Amino acid sequence: MTADPEFLRVEFPASAVAGEGPFEHVALLTLDRPEVLNALNYQLLGELATVLEDLDAEDSCHCVVITGAGERAFAAGADIKEMADQTPVSLTRKNHFARWERIKRIRTPTIAAVRGYALGGGCELAMACDMIVAADDAMFGQPEIRIGVMPGAGGTQRLTRAIGKARAMELILTGDQLPAREAAALGLVTRIVPPEEALLAALRLASRIAALPPVAVLAAKEAVNRAFELSLDAGLEFERRNFFMLFASEDQKEGMAAFIAKRQPDWKGR
Ligand code: CAA
Repeated sequence: MTADPEFLRVEFPASAVAGEGPFEHVALLTLDRPEVLNALNYQLLGELATVLEDLDAEDSCHCVVITGAGERAFAAGADIKEMADQTPVSLTRKNHFARWERIKRIRTPTIAAVRGYALGGGCELAMACDMIVAADDAMFGQPEIRIGVMPGAGGTQRLTRAIGKARAMELILTGDQLPAREAAALGLVTRIVPPEEALLAALRLASRIAALPPVAVLAAKEAVNRAFELSLDAGLEFERRNFFMLFASEDQKEGMAAFIAKRQPDWKGR
């Protein structure tokens, strides 16, 4: 694992929460700058991308939960103080935003556990995860327009795909916030729970996924994500190839044999 990150807490396996756990095969990453509502500076984003890549290479890590430190925010966006003096040239030369590409390429399932604000880059990070478990006090939004810019890390694309053009356009052009209940009704989040249960609910969901055959999980995640990028024909073809590929795994043999013998499967992870 990479040298100690400064702004990211890493627990692997995730430690006990509310008397439950430790959560085997689940990593818990906590964005840890609560004094600035976990604003994503370039260092934190770099640490996150690197730790996610390290965990992606660990056979024993089957699912990752990402949350924010404190009760007020998942993350209130990119760090505005760090961004304020940037120029198109500095942004192009430094290429800090390439970290978002690295995060997108992570194959292990990721779940965002969101309490409070998930704004700007914070909303974009939550949407870059495979699922969002939200506290009922969570507020999502892309307020960049109010500071003279626009979403730059996926907001215009992912929010529009998640909730449709009409609401996405309104939120992005006004900078208004979307409360958790409405986000759930629009399909942005997988479930909402009371604030103090958000992390535990995300860890429980992660544990359930982590207990399933990991190669099938990776292949299924990959195929669902292709639904946003391929034509229906190409997507169906991709799905079928992944489905066929899984018949080369021991876990397929075990899963089907266990079903037929009416016993619990003993997954091998291969
Ligand atoms: N960057 C840097 N610092 C931030 C921050 C951010 N995105 N969001 C909050 N903070 C800091 C505040 O400056 C403040 O620090 P100080 O105590 O040193 O003054 C601290 O966090 C607490 O924030 P507030 O005092 O503002 O708290 P509040 O309760 O009054 O308001 C808020 C909360 C509505 C979330 C407000 O902080 C806010 O509007 N934050 C900015 C949200 C935003 O515009 N995000 C988009 C950023 S741009 C982006 O993300 C680009 C991209 O697509 C990649």
